[in-house]
Amino acid sequence: MKKRIVILVSGNGSNAQAIIDQCRNDYINGEVVALISNRPNAYALVRAEQSNIATQCIDHTKYAERHLFDNALASCITKLQPDLIVLAGFMRILTTDFVAQFEGKMLNIHPSLLPKYPGLNTHQRAIESGDTNHGASVHFVTSELDGGPVVLKSQIKIREADTPNELAERVAKTEWKIYPEVVRWFCEDRLQWINGAVYFDNKMLQSNGMVYDEI
Ligand code: GRF
Repeated sequence: MKKRIVILVSGNGSNAQAIIDQCRNDYINGEVVALISNRPNAYALVRAEQSNIATQCIDHTKYAERHLFDNALASCITKLQPDLIVLAGFMRILTTDFVAQFEGKMLNIHPSLLPKYPGLNTHQRAIESGDTNHGASVHFVTSELDGGPVVLKSQIKIREADTPNELAERVAKTEWKIYPEVVRWFCEDRLQWINGAVYFDNKMLQSNGMVYDEI
């Protein structure tokens, strides 16, 4: 049985596209049953419509309080009965209650080598710190912002002349590889969350996860 995947987005949706494409190619044993945006003008909505994927927009600006938005989002997701919820450039901080409802079935991608640089402006922060390596991390979502257990990281070299935008472009290309890979593992039950611990092929993963070239 194909796993039911719901994708949450706020913007461009290039990671969502990579996952939609790999489901269509049968690389991932899953079906994207809906894509939900909190922004009505997110380009990801156009991408989903072009791929004949059901879309919904839950505009966070229409909710006076964070928990009211989260309640609306949670009830929309619950109706879709997903096996997996994929956050792909979803720019909202989620309440603890929301996260608890979907524990162990929610993934996110963050553009840094976590635990370095949670939050925003990661590319600039990596350059300014004089780092030689940078990348992206796919992790399970917990109530700590960008703090859940990491499954897989991509790693690239920072070049001396790199601007944050150039670096972001190279990191993005690696995101389109590692995110579908992790989703594939989840959909094949190779990746499991059991009582707060993450297992890959029945072996417990360290909280800083695996690195892409090492697989
Ligand atoms: C990516 O850099 C991802 O790491 C971060 O948000 C960005 C989303 O890009 N969480 P896109 O919308 O998938 O193109």
